[in-house]
Amino acid sequence: MNRVTAEKTEGIVPVQEAGRIRVQNVSRFFLQDSGPDVIALNNVNLDIEPGKFYSLLGPSGCGKSTLMRIIAGLDEATLGTITLDEEPIRGPHFLRGMVFQDPTLFPWKTIEENIASGLEARGILKEKKHEVQEYIRLVGLEGFEKVYPHQISGGMAQRASLARALVNHPKVLLMDEPLGALDAFTRMQMQEEILRIWQSRGTTIVFVTHDIDESVYLSDKIVIMTPRPGKIKEVIDVPLGRPRSRNHPDFWRIRSRILRIFGFSPDFADSYHI
Ligand SMILES: Nc1ncnc2c1ncn2[C@@H]1O[C@H](COP(=O)(O)OP(=O)(O)O)[C@@H](O)[C@H]1O
Ligand SMILES: [Mg+2]
Repeated sequence: MNRVTAEKTEGIVPVQEAGRIRVQNVSRFFLQDSGPDVIALNNVNLDIEPGKFYSLLGPSGCGKSTLMRIIAGLDEATLGTITLDEEPIRGPHFLRGMVFQDPTLFPWKTIEENIASGLEARGILKEKKHEVQEYIRLVGLEGFEKVYPHQISGGMAQRASLARALVNHPKVLLMDEPLGALDAFTRMQMQEEILRIWQSRGTTIVFVTHDIDESVYLSDKIVIMTPRPGKIKEVIDVPLGRPRSRNHPDFWRIRSRILRIFGFSPDFADSYHI
């Protein structure tokens, strides 16, 4: 049992195994017919420990989505390898659940059918039907089972998308700017929800954001990426307890450190989005 589940769940829901992702010497080049080739990732190495909450933080174009797509199995590294629990990644798999900025729900299916769609595709919906309800409850969508995606808000669609990934018991949850399209209030509410769900499930999370505060609030480790070519500049620990206070001096210290790494002066920066 990992640290998080051991400390925080107290029997809320059963715990599945959390996965370890190893990114070794990964580069991704995009060769262009016209213009210079793009080095989207340049020799990236990262050991993502089981059960921890990782954020990939960096400005637009630093390769966050490229790295996530390769971990998800939606794209391939030009060089290097990525493994989940020592197994090389070769294409998408439900053990690596995905939640992206656009919830990508099937518009013709109800919320319940959307959440069940992975189980249905795997031919195990019959025996797992009760879990669909369990996850609808976990993400707070009771009462919305029979409605269609266009009838719910963006925040609710993201909850449904989260439940759709979690019902498959992924070892790793990959989230690429999942809160990017939400208003500030819904965004903070969803941050709480994601933490609650992570603490109850114990899954490893890799979460992409360009919001410094969000990364400090949520993460155990922040992977700082810089562009041209996309690479990891530094991985920093966030040794703060939970729940966290955004006003705690230690929170500010970590935020200031990150601002400095990106070349901003913490005293003058009035926006912490990068
Ligand atoms: N399919 C593609 N073809 C060409 N260039 C791409 C492709 N996908 C990403 N890139 C380039 O790779 C770099 C990293 O992109 P991306 O991973 O989307 O960054 P981020 O998610 O951090 O904003 C950018 O310069 C982007 O333009
Ligand atoms: Mg991106």
